[in-house]
Amino acid sequence: MRIASLTDFLLMRIERGARPAKGAGAPLNRQIYQAIREAILSQLLPSGWQLPSSRDLARELAISRNTVTYAYEQLIAEGYLETRAGSGTFIADTTPDQIPEIRLNTPPLTDPSGQSELSAHGALLIQQAGVSDLQWGPFMPGVPDVTLFPNKIWSRLQNKHWRRSRAELLTYGDAGGYLPLREAVAEYLRIARSVNCTANQVIITTGIHQSLDIVVKLLGEHGDSAWVEDPCYWGTRSVLNSLGIKPVAIPVDAEGMRMRLANLRQPPRFICATPSHQYPLGMVMSLSRRRMLLEYAATRKVWIIEDDYDSEFRYGSRPLASLQGMDTDDRVLYMGTFSKTMFPSLRIGFMVVPETLATAFAIGVSELYRGSQVFMQAVMADFMTEGHFASHIRRMRVLYAERLHLLQAAIERHFGDRITLTGGEAGLHLALGLPEQCDDLAISRAARAEGIVARPLSRYFMNAGARHQGLLLGYACVPNEQIAPSFDKLAAIIKTHWK
Ligand SMILES: Cc1ncc(COP(=O)(O)O)c(C=O)c1O
Repeated sequence: MRIASLTDFLLMRIERGARPAKGAGAPLNRQIYQAIREAILSQLLPSGWQLPSSRDLARELAISRNTVTYAYEQLIAEGYLETRAGSGTFIADTTPDQIPEIRLNTPPLTDPSGQSELSAHGALLIQQAGVSDLQWGPFMPGVPDVTLFPNKIWSRLQNKHWRRSRAELLTYGDAGGYLPLREAVAEYLRIARSVNCTANQVIITTGIHQSLDIVVKLLGEHGDSAWVEDPCYWGTRSVLNSLGIKPVAIPVDAEGMRMRLANLRQPPRFICATPSHQYPLGMVMSLSRRRMLLEYAATRKVWIIEDDYDSEFRYGSRPLASLQGMDTDDRVLYMGTFSKTMFPSLRIGFMVVPETLATAFAIGVSELYRGSQVFMQAVMADFMTEGHFASHIRRMRVLYAERLHLLQAAIERHFGDRITLTGGEAGLHLALGLPEQCDDLAISRAARAEGIVARPLSRYFMNAGARHQGLLLGYACVPNEQIAPSFDKLAAIIKTHWK
């Protein structure tokens, strides 16, 4: 149905409850604007239809001309109406709000998951997603015991900053991060990880995921390749995939990454490695492999990305020196995180870049992410300089060593030496090897139904031929008394799948 007379239509609209009592509700010009807009959207007024002049409409409605002019001007500004010089005001051909209607009339998507809407990189990222939908409970790998975090100290430090409430902590962050935190991190890394750095080289990020993201964005070209350990952390693959960098799987042995001649002949742009504690299998990269990687990177101008995610927790010996500390050619980009030493939802991490790149990275982080968590960075800086960070790590290291032994004992009790265990020297999890006939995905699913997280090792491999069956078992976040009973449940499931 089309409107025969705009005047009658508006009189009805205004009279039909829309006209408010004097002084209440929408002003008259707004009511006219809304009524015409609705009529256009519901196609009661077709495009190209000529409206009466503002003078005529005002006279017929017995209202001031200004009221009509205001409504018309608003509709013109929003694109519902258009004026044609010398001829008057018309309903515009295409009104902005028609666009969703046109979409609704398109045939429904054949793929209800929406995957077909994704870019090639987006689809790859989602297809290969490795993140678990559970992030807490026995045996979640890579998660510290956040229930033992010293919240009282943290809230005291936090309150101190809130009381002062300085604008610098509440506005966007400085390029590179909050300076006192950069200084505290630099000092910590020099002492604890033998990293060669000044505070200027330390860039604060939201964690290793973001550090990797910015490194690839600033130093990589679309289509470049990156060597990754096989197996490796799913997050590394995901970030690379999402940025159009091709991950090339390099197998690992007891000494870490083992490159073949064919690999060496084709230098990648990046080498992503976890030299202090291979993720997820747990070995340490040997000195000769470290030297070889550094030499190769220097001669072929390759960037080494050192992911040093959990080496603070080393049982029995001191944490190992970083690869960055051995680098004399500025080829290593070092990455660390507070996700394991503090708590994951803090989302603060750091990287150390060569001096020559420090300014570019500080600007890059501000430009892309506008810094992050400045307030929390200030609290973190105090937590470090007042000595709480070091003592929290010391306390947790003792506790995690206990939990590691409890889990090793439970595994031993059920399987003796029929099962191989790796990664027990450091970190927050163990890798438990299963016979190749076992289906770790099925075991993981069955465990999940019992409330146990046992991540399947095979999912961490890229090369199907190299894939091993196994489970990643995190012990750090499991209370001592729950370790044996939880493993009893898991062992029962493993035994039903043991072939
Ligand atoms: C090897 C490795 N790198 C990086 C991360 C994640 O670090 P972040 O929380 O700082 O992004 C993890 C988390 O489990 C990890 O295992």
